[in-house]
Amino acid sequence: MRTYTLVNQKGGVGKTTTAISLGAELGRRGMKVLIVDCDPQANATSCLGIEPGSVTAGTYDALIGRLPATDCVLHSPNLKLTLLPSSPALAGAQVEIVGMADRERALQRALSPLGGHFDYVLIDCPPSLGLLTVNGLVAATNGVIIPVQCEYLALEGLSQLMQTLQRLRSGLFPALAVRGLLLTMYDSRTRLSKEVADELRDHFGDSVFETVIPRNVRLAEAPSYGIPIASYAPNSPGGIAYREFAEEILERDGVPMAKAAVRVSKDGIPKNARSAALGDHGGVSHGA
Ligand SMILES: Nc1ncnc2c1ncn2[C@@H]1O[C@H](COP(=O)(O)OP(=O)(O)O)[C@@H](O)[C@H]1O
Ligand SMILES: [Mg+2]
Repeated sequence: MRTYTLVNQKGGVGKTTTAISLGAELGRRGMKVLIVDCDPQANATSCLGIEPGSVTAGTYDALIGRLPATDCVLHSPNLKLTLLPSSPALAGAQVEIVGMADRERALQRALSPLGGHFDYVLIDCPPSLGLLTVNGLVAATNGVIIPVQCEYLALEGLSQLMQTLQRLRSGLFPALAVRGLLLTMYDSRTRLSKEVADELRDHFGDSVFETVIPRNVRLAEAPSYGIPIASYAPNSPGGIAYREFAEEILERDGVPMAKAAVRVSKDGIPKNARSAALGDHGGVSHGA
């Protein structure tokens, strides 16, 4: 099982879009994928067609220890994705876990019953460096993926994030790694996008993924249909880019592509997972 956390304290840089789009592509390749929505704004949850207000068991309940995470996940056979959904209640968790012992490890603890059920766990963080994000970082066993929007001052925004990562490394989590920076919303028509991309590659070298995600309206449209780009517009520039990104991840992780393509993703899903009509606005269906 590999766990990656999508992080950037800036909002609107493509964390949620990347979690959903990468997750769906890995799922299509037979990987068992869990998306953990760790943002009280619950965008990943609504991007998958689930109304956050309807979530009665989700990240919040697992985080505060009210329910085991295995009872909170929703599985979509259609999209080949499993989701630990968020709800507005998660905003309260920040306050509730402050008093807990080992409060930075609450998410890691909450996710541990799911260990072994999945090939990939992708944790989507809120746009802040608060306690929920720190929990997301501490759970990032295989490192963090940092989406960076190709725009002015991108580099400045990153230094605060790098400092936070460094602080965690020298304290709680020495092995915390940067899996890579992903350039997003690249606009090939502007010189600025190219300049920012060049600057980031100069500065971070091989830590920048080769794949670049273009600005593409299809990526912005897909959430309103509650489905990932892989189902909405797989051959759009955005769809193709996320397919390439999934391939780059699998390759860097040493997962043989052929094996990834033939793996059956049916078994192994926690038996308590409720099947959810993720992706068709059908709401959450309860029961096996
Ligand atoms: N490559 C892209 N091209 C166009 N729109 C995008 C792209 N990536 C994300 N978006 C849109 O930009 C907004 C912010 O993206 P999102 O993934 O929610 O960012 P974050 O999770 O970092 O706040 C969303 O409306 C999303 O649909
Ligand atoms: Mg988001």
